[in-house]
Amino acid sequence: MQKNPIDTTQYSNRIQALGEPLFKTAIFEKGRLQKHHQATVVSHTMRVTRRAEIIAEFLKRHNINVNVDDVVIAALCHDIGIIGRKKKYKNNLECCKRHSSDSVIEARKIYGNLSAVAEEAILYHMWPLSVSYPKSTEGWVVLAADKLSSIKGVFTKQA
Ligand SMILES: [Fe+2]
Ligand SMILES: [Fe+2]
Repeated sequence: MQKNPIDTTQYSNRIQALGEPLFKTAIFEKGRLQKHHQATVVSHTMRVTRRAEIIAEFLKRHNINVNVDDVVIAALCHDIGIIGRKKKYKNNLECCKRHSSDSVIEARKIYGNLSAVAEEAILYHMWPLSVSYPKSTEGWVVLAADKLSSIKGVFTKQA
């Protein structure tokens, strides 16, 4: 598979600043090559992050309390645990169940202590395929952006 050419400097200042520790990692580079939702992990991640930031800023403008930084960090990290899936998981079901908690583990390695809100948003982004659902606005924003991107990927091949 050809290396995904996603240019992270094309994103908002906030995404570039918060994403800087992630963008330098070997795991992120690996994610440019791994297919995911009709795209690659990296292209899907960046689309989800851009959508999540737009939704969060929209809510903020309408006086809904949401931490946009937490949304962006959670969106950037939500699928990082899925990178290397063929070696990590026996099958798609195990991948589906475990990659969100593995994403939290990988995100902690990169960002150190994440906020509880960001961790929870990563952990429950797979709902309703997970038992638990997000308890925060930030979690629902990431979940919505991820689902929108996944659905769009089915029709446009760009998730
Ligand atoms: Fe996921
Ligand atoms: Fe995702």
